[in-house]
Amino acid sequence: MRVLIVYAHPEPTSFNAAMMREAVAVLSAAGHEVIVSDLHAMGFDPVSDRRNFSTVVDPGRLSQQTEEAHASAHNGYVPELQVEMDKLAWCDLLILQFPLWWLGLPAILKGWIDRVFALGRAYGGGRWFDRGVLANKRAMCSVTVGGPPELYSDSGWYGPVGPILFPIHRGILGFVGFSVIEPFVVHGPSRISQRDRAAYLARYRQRLAAIERAPVLANPRTADYEGFTLRSGMRPLPGATSVF
Ligand SMILES: Cc1cc2nc3c(=O)[nH]c(=O)nc-3n(C[C@H](O)[C@H](O)[C@H](O)COP(=O)(O)O)c2cc1C
Repeated sequence: MRVLIVYAHPEPTSFNAAMMREAVAVLSAAGHEVIVSDLHAMGFDPVSDRRNFSTVVDPGRLSQQTEEAHASAHNGYVPELQVEMDKLAWCDLLILQFPLWWLGLPAILKGWIDRVFALGRAYGGGRWFDRGVLANKRAMCSVTVGGPPELYSDSGWYGPVGPILFPIHRGILGFVGFSVIEPFVVHGPSRISQRDRAAYLARYRQRLAAIERAPVLANPRTADYEGFTLRSGMRPLPGATSVF
């Protein structure tokens, strides 16, 4: 299996770094090919704008998706993006390794998605969810959070982690076609004992060893939505086979 780990943490001694290294070691030892995009080390620019492109459709007004569709058809992405798009197309398994920041993705990783998951490369023309460009691939979030499990329980401040990660699971990974594996979540790695950190890493090794059989989350089947009618007056998206 070909594995891409997109790792978003600025500190090489962090627990996120330890998890990334553990994944590289375990998956490589199991015979998988593994590459890492270390976004901070790469100095990855997360801002998505006209600088994504070497091609131009309309110099007067930037429509990001229009420029993306054109760049996808005409090899018009700048090299730093093309490299990441090639890695995405190459992998069978994508692991996003990140700390939860403000209940979401760190900006550098959100920006990697904004720029790399481009129209024509990751979705478009009716290709989403089970018909997605990246269908037949799997993805998993490996996440650290600062708070203890109680804060992420039904009665806690934030509620369960599942709904917090829903925008990533459904709106990003599922949308482009990935089968999304249950997330691996670590609570408060800098606030627990060395022994508990080691226990988390041991559990993570087990998860990785069984990654090809790991259960996946439910995702919509586009055929189930073919009958939907548009009541809002919106036009279907370009190339859509249904209202989407
Ligand atoms: C900008 C920022 C925002 C954060 N937001 C949250 C948050 O919303 N919820 C939470 O539980 N922890 C939050 N944290 C704590 C981090 O998730 C936590 O420090 C990290 O997961 C620990 O992993 P590490 O030791 O690898 O850094 C935040 C930390 C930073 C720096």
